[in-house]
Amino acid sequence: MTIQFYSRADSDLLERLQQQLPQHEVNGWPECPDPAAVRYAVVWGAPDDFFNGMDNLQAVLSIGAGVDHLLSHPGLPPGVPIIRLTDAGMADKIAEYVLYGTLRAQRGFYRYEQLQRERHWQPLDDIHAHDFTVGIMGLGVIGNRVGEVLQQAGYNVTGWRRSHTGGNSVECFFGPDRLDEFLSTLNVLVCLLPLTDDTQAIIDSAVLNKLPTGAHLINVARGGHVVDDDLISALDRGQLASALLDVCVPEPPADDHPFWRHPGIALTPHVAGPTQKQESIEQISRSIAQLDAGQTPAGIVDPAAGY
Ligand code: GLV
Repeated sequence: MTIQFYSRADSDLLERLQQQLPQHEVNGWPECPDPAAVRYAVVWGAPDDFFNGMDNLQAVLSIGAGVDHLLSHPGLPPGVPIIRLTDAGMADKIAEYVLYGTLRAQRGFYRYEQLQRERHWQPLDDIHAHDFTVGIMGLGVIGNRVGEVLQQAGYNVTGWRRSHTGGNSVECFFGPDRLDEFLSTLNVLVCLLPLTDDTQAIIDSAVLNKLPTGAHLINVARGGHVVDDDLISALDRGQLASALLDVCVPEPPADDHPFWRHPGIALTPHVAGPTQKQESIEQISRSIAQLDAGQTPAGIVDPAAGY
């Protein structure tokens, strides 16, 4: 059976996939001798015409946890199941990044970077980790792992998720009705939500103003969650003390975008959870083997929910 592969970032994953699935023929874009023979598409950031002619596709496998790149793809064949990565080594990497961002906020390192540039020798108030509360919006597999790591480091951690689901690593607020309560106690808001119609632009002035004055934002999800102008205004007003952003729209931002030079913003190039090649290919190969055997793999996306 044929697999069509496309990754904007990691072309060497194709060879690894072929090694794991010798009984399949894995083609790399644009090589696709017979689109109608393609049974599985394994993709990240595929071009608009990628799916043309793939009339017998059985599943699309995302080389990433987020599937907004697929659900908004103009050529995605309707009704074909989508399978996303669940963790695949990303959760620990993202937890490291959020731990760094939390330490940066709690120990005032963001401030010391500015003070150094001003040649100012000024110790700041000492705040204990157990007096510092981090709130995670989006408590899926990755959010729960981030919660565990922050708790182990001594922080108070709470979470917010859309619907009532058990098995969370931290105290959890459920649903839109509890959002204000969740926000009201936070020193750091971490965004780990999937990008869906419900969560697009969710971090706007209304949400930022519900945080205690001087809180911090860490966005490791998608740039589309944040309203850029509202974020800049919250920083300029002192409502937010700092923002650590791994994502933005577009990536990279335009040369004159304020994210590049705002003193309250630290920006990284979508590196919080780099693809862990071996884990990702093993998980994708396992899912394809399960589909071949008529089984249901983990990570099936609900298109109505958007994740
Ligand atoms: C990365 O952003 C992913 O969705 O895996």
